[in-house]
Amino acid sequence: MAERTPLVIDTDPGIDDALAILLALASPEVDLRLVCTVHGNVEVAQATDNALRVLHLAGRSDVPVAAGARDSLVYRQPERAGHVHGAAGLGGVQLPASPATVDPRPAVVALAELLTAAQTPVTVAAIGPWTNIALLLATYPEAADRIGRLVLMGGSAGRGGNVTAAAEFNVWADPEAAQRVLGSAVPTVLVGLDVTVPTVLDADGIARFAAAGRVGETAAAVLRQYVDHARTQYGTRGVVLHDALALTEAIVPGTLGTVRRDVVVDTTLGAGRGQTLVDRRRVSDSPTAVDVAETVDSAAAVEFLVGRLAALSR
Ligand code: BDR
Ligand code: CA
Repeated sequence: MAERTPLVIDTDPGIDDALAILLALASPEVDLRLVCTVHGNVEVAQATDNALRVLHLAGRSDVPVAAGARDSLVYRQPERAGHVHGAAGLGGVQLPASPATVDPRPAVVALAELLTAAQTPVTVAAIGPWTNIALLLATYPEAADRIGRLVLMGGSAGRGGNVTAAAEFNVWADPEAAQRVLGSAVPTVLVGLDVTVPTVLDADGIARFAAAGRVGETAAAVLRQYVDHARTQYGTRGVVLHDALALTEAIVPGTLGTVRRDVVVDTTLGAGRGQTLVDRRRVSDSPTAVDVAETVDSAAAVEFLVGRLAALSR
């Protein structure tokens, strides 16, 4: 088998973040080297504790977890997503505490050091607000240049938002950071609501990995609150696992159909704040253009997730 791609996940667990971490651990194509946490669905201290617990659930307490930004770059954004993920972020399920402790380094330092030392290009999957990535670009640009692929969950090209009419949660939580990240020349794939919302994991899929063993059973329990939320928010019969789809693209490049586009973020303070303005009039050849995910085989993506989670449980 080809060499495993080094992977970093920058995350705010979060139910779909937890599933995304488990998916990465279940995937032999990648080698999860570091988890960075960020404010977002929950406070960063809670996100950090959740990340440690999720890794422990999968028997991978050896993966370092470094805590990142507590807040957005310019305007404080105190609103969290307890109504989606539960107050503690994992759908009301209390996972066993990890024997591991948090890495003493700030996330941005841990990430810069890993990138600088890496022998092969590293994939970074950012599935919370992109504050840590913006800080990396501003503080350690040479390290950021070494990112092989940056896979971002967030934004929307044509579906509007999920937090406001215009904005998707991860971008809305730190629009200035999002603009900094999307304006960089790092090779970037944007996995937004256009491809995540149609990709629905239903009760049958959940039942398949729940039956496979302890990890799958726990993942299914964590998902229960999310199923209810998806039914009311999106009118779907199952759950929209935004972050797990982004991880699928990080694990198997080319899973999603992408087109190079120019993208800017609305950083005004009006009703459009946090909107990703994707120029779909043309394919871009600008060095800062972004590979925007526009098409997805949702059934295949769901099958991939279910199969991998079931295998992790055996
Ligand atoms: C994003 O927002 C968060 O609530 C999810 O974890 C995901 O990263 C979807 O808009
Ligand atoms: Ca997330």
